[in-house]
Amino acid sequence: MSERKKMIAPSVLSADFGHLERDMEMINRSRADWFHLDVMDGVFVPNISFGFPVMRAMARVARKPLDVHLMIVQPEKFINEVKALGAHVMNVHQEACPHLHRVLQQIRQAGMFSGVTLNPATPLSTIEDVLEEADLVMLMSVNPGFGGQQFIDRTIDKTRRLREMIDRRNLPTLIEIDGGVNRHNADVLFQAGADILVAGNAVFSADDPVREIDIIKGETLA
Ligand code: DX5
Ligand code: ZN
Repeated sequence: MSERKKMIAPSVLSADFGHLERDMEMINRSRADWFHLDVMDGVFVPNISFGFPVMRAMARVARKPLDVHLMIVQPEKFINEVKALGAHVMNVHQEACPHLHRVLQQIRQAGMFSGVTLNPATPLSTIEDVLEEADLVMLMSVNPGFGGQQFIDRTIDKTRRLREMIDRRNLPTLIEIDGGVNRHNADVLFQAGADILVAGNAVFSADDPVREIDIIKGETLA
């Protein structure tokens, strides 16, 4: 297996919203790679998180690329607003986009990484015909809507099959995993072919979040 860079994207959903700047500065100082921002609309998922005014404030503090995960219906309406944040990745859900091929192209045309996300129940075959348009595929390893949920083990095999699908076609598409990631399952996910792991609760509930990021990345022994 080729040596792939192991990346971590802490999910700001698990930060203390009363001390957002403090928590984001901690991530700035750490060896984390991206900020993962979870937008929920109460329609696509049964919860509401934060929207653009809050993300604009976050963008002013962040000194690492923004990975925006839209758990909303009709995400294509917001391509320009996500672009205006200076986001690196715009992740839309396969289940929210009947015209996924076009949406991924529009995200790329806007100059961002096009990301497509699959819920645990959504098979890989649903992105077979758009893989060339995706810079990144994100597999949900929990049902989206909440932080701190239990990792769904089947995601490990799904990650392996996605890695095979991407490598077979010689594509540079990145694989991201989101939900229930922690120091115990991170290594097996990287071995299965993941490039980026999102971690919310595991990072922000740790006694030493900066060290926990290193542990999840495999750069420090637990
Ligand atoms: C779930 C979100 C995740 C979540 C991950 O709906 O998309 O990004 O914040 O949090 P943990 O790591 O706590 O499962
Ligand atoms: Zn997310």
